[in-house]
Amino acid sequence: MRKAKIIGTGMAVPECVVDNHLLARCMNTSDEWIMQRTGIKERRVSPDTYRMLLRLAEAPDKEAFIRDLYDHGLDGKIDSTMSVADLAHEASQAALKSAGLAIGEIDFIVDSTTFPDYAFPHTGSVLGTKFGLTSTPILNLQQGCAGFIYALACGDAFIRMGMYDRVLVVGAEMLSPVFEYSDRGRDMSVLFADGAGAVVLEAVDAASRSGIISHHLHTDGTILDKLYGEIFGTSTFPPISKKKIDDDRCRPRMHGRSVFVQAVKRFKEVIRETLEANRLTAADIDLLLFHQANLRIIDSVAEHLKIPPAKTFTNLHKYGNTSAASVPICLHEALAEGRIHEGDLILMAAFGTGFAWGASLLRW
Ligand code: COA
Repeated sequence: MRKAKIIGTGMAVPECVVDNHLLARCMNTSDEWIMQRTGIKERRVSPDTYRMLLRLAEAPDKEAFIRDLYDHGLDGKIDSTMSVADLAHEASQAALKSAGLAIGEIDFIVDSTTFPDYAFPHTGSVLGTKFGLTSTPILNLQQGCAGFIYALACGDAFIRMGMYDRVLVVGAEMLSPVFEYSDRGRDMSVLFADGAGAVVLEAVDAASRSGIISHHLHTDGTILDKLYGEIFGTSTFPPISKKKIDDDRCRPRMHGRSVFVQAVKRFKEVIRETLEANRLTAADIDLLLFHQANLRIIDSVAEHLKIPPAKTFTNLHKYGNTSAASVPICLHEALAEGRIHEGDLILMAAFGTGFAWGASLLRW
């Protein structure tokens, strides 16, 4: 009998920092509004998004600038200088380094990415190319903000069944190019950003004290219209058309209040489920790593479950919502800041589009 243990962590975020003040020069918003409603102060974005925002902030006619962007690209170019696989690659390299392993020693890779480099093949294939891999199996999930928890559960399951010994698990996102930095897109564009986090899993004996203990996964697709994006999907025919752009159907959509309510409800449920399944109470948990969507969501759930702030970790003030990357980035930073000690019980929980949500419990 065996289980998986995390033996290395890594993260990557683009260098370009966008604070709330820069966004307020592009659209009708303010640092105060964003801070009060979300707790986000700044976020990291791709160099292309950053250049675009600097230009938009200066543009006298912002509507005309955005129209031109859709018509011609930025400065007449449509090829990105950085893609989501670049972030996945950087985070993976860091995780491998911390595990003391080379990519050739990895048996299997699981990535979760919401918005890929290409419609197909998936981001994992592009990541594999960046590593020069020619036969390592790579699975890609598209599980939105819950992506890392789902990917971790997959990696763990493959190790438990004895199929693989070492698995690289990645959550990587480049969401900043998808949103519109205008008044009509401001509800979402101030929240999401770019980043990647990765962990290396290794098989250990089931009796060993440290390792992954359990996962608890759920999906409810009946209200997916509260957070979704048509973008290049087959829900329209053809998937891409000028009419689709003209009809403003290439932009993600969110009903913020509904997402907020669902997130709080599902976080509470899945954390309770995890504790009950393992005969634990909230007091037994040493550190709770929440998906970083909104500080008010985290505070509300933590308060309800009587989890003191000292037992939660937040970094959304500097990164915003990096979707599938947020939990592994939290894990990496919590470790770097000395917030995790040998033997600690760590509960990770995430919620996002789908709606899909889940939690993982592990002992460090
Ligand atoms: N800046 C300024 N005003 C904004 C704004 C922004 N960036 N975004 C929306 N508003 C406006 C709205 O247009 C609305 O104006 P109106 O009253 O004139 O119509 C007003 O603020 C209130 O909007 P509402 O959506 O009701 O605000 P809210 O209190 O629910 O906060 C969110 C909005 C998005 C911050 C909040 O709903 C939220 O965080 N939801 C969860 C989102 C999330 O985490 N998604 C990802 C999950 S993984």
